[in-house]
Amino acid sequence: MCEQVIPNPPNIIAIDGPAASGKSTIGNLIANRLDYICLDTGIMYRAVACKALREGIDVFDAEKISALSERIKIDIRHASEEDGRQFDVLIDGADHTWHIRSPEVNQVVSEVSVYPRVRGAMTELQREIAKNGHIVMIGRDIGTVVLPDADLKIYLEASVEVRAQRRYVEELGRGKKVCLVDIEESLRHRDEIDSGRSIAPLRAADDAVIVNSDDMTVYEVVEHVMRIIAQR
Ligand code: CDP
Ligand code: CDP
Repeated sequence: MCEQVIPNPPNIIAIDGPAASGKSTIGNLIANRLDYICLDTGIMYRAVACKALREGIDVFDAEKISALSERIKIDIRHASEEDGRQFDVLIDGADHTWHIRSPEVNQVVSEVSVYPRVRGAMTELQREIAKNGHIVMIGRDIGTVVLPDADLKIYLEASVEVRAQRRYVEELGRGKKVCLVDIEESLRHRDEIDSGRSIAPLRAADDAVIVNSDDMTVYEVVEHVMRIIAQR
């Protein structure tokens, strides 16, 4: 592969889309190519959900979840173990890299992501991280709410069946015992809440480039997005 150097790539790139549409895989590869940092904001909402479960806080208790989101400390560091992780996720100093991806967290993360104070706290942190530019930021509301002035907005989509199949293969590859039907159901559940909430719902920004990857490999999506970047 010939990796062309792009003279003035967009400084801030937003990638949004539904669960398992390929955002973090594509976003990390694009960031590597550009030598940018990549922030997957889903990690932050997952961290809030994970901590709430561990502390026994009811995810439907808006006040307690909001207060938790305002005091939680989330650190993303270089991977300390070679167990398939891309990086470590520390919540209040403790390693929760895998806990945040558990089915229990999948089940409640969209519920905690609805609360205005939770979104406010996460949005503030995300804007602070994006301040210096040279960043690919991934989420649901990056192009619409968090960074509406992003230089390039990509909205990655794929059918729920394709997304479920990909996540299924991914989890099998990690040696997990998983059920395709349960994964698809969980994705539909999150998509519905993420798209239906009144604050910062999942949707493509008016100026986003929509990329449907149903029939594209990871490599093809990366090449396609790199061509869009080169044309900016
Ligand atoms: O990786 P996957 O697409 O399965 O999910 P994620 O990006 O890790 O996000 C987990 C959940 O966090 C989403 O289903 C949303 O409920 C929430 N989220 C959000 O509300 N806003 C964001 N910017 C990112 C994630
Ligand atoms: O971050 P998000 O939840 O949107 O998705 P992901 O975790 O990056 O991707 C979900 C799975 O789909 C991963 O195993 C990717 O390797 C895979 N994928 C794929 O097979 N083909 C694509 N065009 C995009 C993603």
